[in-house]
Amino acid sequence: MFIKRMLPLMVAGALIGNVAIAAETAVAGKKVWITIGDEGYGQLQKMLPATLAAQSSVRSNGNQRAGLSTQERIHLVQVDESQLMNLSARLHSQLHRCGGFVFHSSKADGQLALAGSPVTTLAAIRPNYVLDNQSAVNGMLSNMQASNIAQTITDLSTGFVNRYYTTTAGANASTWLMNKWKTMANGRSDITVEQYTHSWKQKSVILTIKGSDFPNEVVVMGGHLDSINQSGNSETSKAPGADDDASGIASLTEAYRAMLVANYKPRRTIKMMAYAAEEVGLRGSADIAANFKANNVNVVGVLQLDMTNYKGAANDIYIFTDYTDSSQNTFIANLLKTYQPSVTVGYDVCKYACSDHASWSRNGYFASMPFESSFSTSNKKIHTADDTLANSGITAVHALKFSKLALSFAVELGSDAGTVVLPPKTETFTGSLASGASKLFGPFKVGVGSMKLSTTGTGNIDIYGRKTSAPTTSTYDCRSAGFTATETCTVNFTAKGDGYVLVRAASAGTYNLSVTYTQQ
Ligand code: BES
Ligand code: ZN
Repeated sequence: MFIKRMLPLMVAGALIGNVAIAAETAVAGKKVWITIGDEGYGQLQKMLPATLAAQSSVRSNGNQRAGLSTQERIHLVQVDESQLMNLSARLHSQLHRCGGFVFHSSKADGQLALAGSPVTTLAAIRPNYVLDNQSAVNGMLSNMQASNIAQTITDLSTGFVNRYYTTTAGANASTWLMNKWKTMANGRSDITVEQYTHSWKQKSVILTIKGSDFPNEVVVMGGHLDSINQSGNSETSKAPGADDDASGIASLTEAYRAMLVANYKPRRTIKMMAYAAEEVGLRGSADIAANFKANNVNVVGVLQLDMTNYKGAANDIYIFTDYTDSSQNTFIANLLKTYQPSVTVGYDVCKYACSDHASWSRNGYFASMPFESSFSTSNKKIHTADDTLANSGITAVHALKFSKLALSFAVELGSDAGTVVLPPKTETFTGSLASGASKLFGPFKVGVGSMKLSTTGTGNIDIYGRKTSAPTTSTYDCRSAGFTATETCTVNFTAKGDGYVLVRAASAGTYNLSVTYTQQ
């Protein structure tokens, strides 16, 4: 099936190349560095036989799932910037499965990329993936709607002739999105929306919801703002990019709306990013991720939504296992199982750095990329004038699953303090009790961990501990009822909650109660 589809495209290849050269606005003669996989390199050599790699290396994209582990040879090559569009067109038309190259601002940067993914220096600290915000998440999920996503896809894909990174329309789309996100914030002082300026016309957009307790711990969710037409990109070329990637931006926007409606105030900072210039080598996200790394920003997790609205395969969501973090991918699968149990999950690989998640994983952060289909069954209209909403589902029912996933990702990571480990807290109480009398303590605000009780004293004192509500002598989660006043017992908390303690005198005595618990 793949070969059959490729034949007519190969004939068209040369023609597309010519159009692309004519449309390319980059300065001829300016040399730039790219890294590119084996098959792409083969195409590059057919196109420009004199081009040789400066350096090559074999890289394995470690993933634990049997059968999905890949090894790839990648090459660092210097090319004339004016040839990039030409190369991109050729890769897309001839090698749909294995296209892609990554632009590097310097040779050193390219060598770093070549040196390895996953990167050795880890910028991130592992957060806690326990799902312990179920009522908050479920409340927000119940309010989310596909029609809002469809509207944003329509606005982006029909309101701008293209969103190419060098065009006026591409720059205008950035300002439009900034204003939309700003208007939605409706004056909330903890929310800012800014443009991020690059060395080209189109700016990225970054929305920040400042964390109330841990503002320096950041959850990042992104998609790309730009679009491309593989036949060439001028000011007036049509590149609606409804699926690639208005769908990702629209999915994030609906998750943002649900958080606003609930007046959700995260404890960690949540950032939503609409990257510029993804289609020309992940350039916007590369700038931003490198900047975050250079500033030691503690990004606890990154979610990338790139193409969410075309259901091409049996399962609903495919988690890409390469250039991503396997523990965070397990967390993603758990979020789906818990919050969208009817959504089915598959796994696949891109085999190359196919979207902005790779910029983050290259900089040492934990990234995931849940995708609309398996790689080979994805939307074939992307990068053409036909990447419209009509051609990718008409409604946004498929994208809603990704929007809900993003909401659950944001709230589960945004509500915890995973990387700042708070020390256990101890509270002590002393008193005396007549025979048969008892006294209740609590609630203690216990985090995932435990509440440890201990007493010393005189007489015969017993202790009872319980989660959620007050213990009685017959209903408790732990009890210590020996014949003295020296007792200990522990209640484990698999989710954060309230802890209560009952102290009872079987015979009159005094107690020194100490309650040590994991803080929330
Ligand atoms: N959304 C695509 C990536 C994609 C396409 C993933 C099809 C899975 C299936 C993305 O916008 C894109 O086109 N990426 C480029 C690579 C990039 C480094 C220029 C690509 O795939 O060629
Ligand atoms: Zn894309």
